[in-house]
Amino acid sequence: MSTSLILEPPQAPQAMLTAELPEARPVIQLEHIHKTYTMGDVEVHALRGVTCTIGEGEFVAIMGASGSGKSTTMNIIGCLDRPTKGTYILDGEDVSEMSKDERADIRCQKIGFVFQGFNLLSRTSALENVELPMLYLGVDAAQRHQRAMEALAAVGLAGREQNHPNQLSGGQQQRVAVARSLVNHPALILADEPTGNLDSRTSVEVMEIFQRLNREMGITLVLVTHEPDIAEYAKRVIVFKDGKIKSDRSIEKQRNAAEELKNMPIIEDDDEEEDE
Ligand SMILES: Nc1ncnc2c1ncn2[C@@H]1O[C@H](COP(=O)(O)OP(=O)(O)OP(=O)(O)O)[C@@H](O)[C@H]1O
Ligand SMILES: [Mg+2]
Repeated sequence: MSTSLILEPPQAPQAMLTAELPEARPVIQLEHIHKTYTMGDVEVHALRGVTCTIGEGEFVAIMGASGSGKSTTMNIIGCLDRPTKGTYILDGEDVSEMSKDERADIRCQKIGFVFQGFNLLSRTSALENVELPMLYLGVDAAQRHQRAMEALAAVGLAGREQNHPNQLSGGQQQRVAVARSLVNHPALILADEPTGNLDSRTSVEVMEIFQRLNREMGITLVLVTHEPDIAEYAKRVIVFKDGKIKSDRSIEKQRNAAEELKNMPIIEDDDEEEDE
């Protein structure tokens, strides 16, 4: 079920359609994806035939009840896991049959991850956390430093480079994680419940960063959320039910996090106390 970004495709011949409205290059192509987990005698059908295309520059929110298959889908999209059946083409490359090592390489090169629990190394500075993905790719030290500094500045953390995670608020830690997801210039950023542990203003701050990355840098984003409010910052919402896509729609009026932040009270950061 590939849905274009266009709300109502005009009823026109195919040639005219493509001439007038060039489709974004597909970054994610999931075709008839099934995922079955076997636990002893029991088979759990986590995904039951998911087909979906996500184009370059899209910002997609994935929603659905607990157990509907959102994380399973994200794990497959993120090359952390393989489908039991079906084809997955990432950025033009068929990754469904790749080995673990090949998938690890693709993951480093093409995908940035942001998790609900931030997943930062605790004994390591913000700067070193952001440098880490570049270490895996063999980027030299000077480049690593420069790109990490730039990424931290891009998420509003200039000056906090030497802080360890426990010296940063939850929102700041999540911004470090966003900076880390960016540094290898990924084709795609995947975020599973990135605002799940954050208060409402901090959630909007994180969404503001995602919207900026999407709009200004054209980064393709896929985000899982339980919160309908958060999904409205995306441009498209895909809802899962029982391992299938239940609905897939464009958001007509995307919420604007930057505008909303102007009218939200600023809650004092708790950095000062935590700095000791
Ligand atoms: N490693 C696993 N082994 C066995 N079953 C699994 C495994 N991972 C997920 N499942 C099952 O697959 C189904 C889909 O799980 P998934 O984690 O994708 O749901 P979800 O939509 O992310 O839910 P939530 O909103 O709670 O995070 C569930 O029934 C779950 O119990
Ligand atoms: Mg999940």
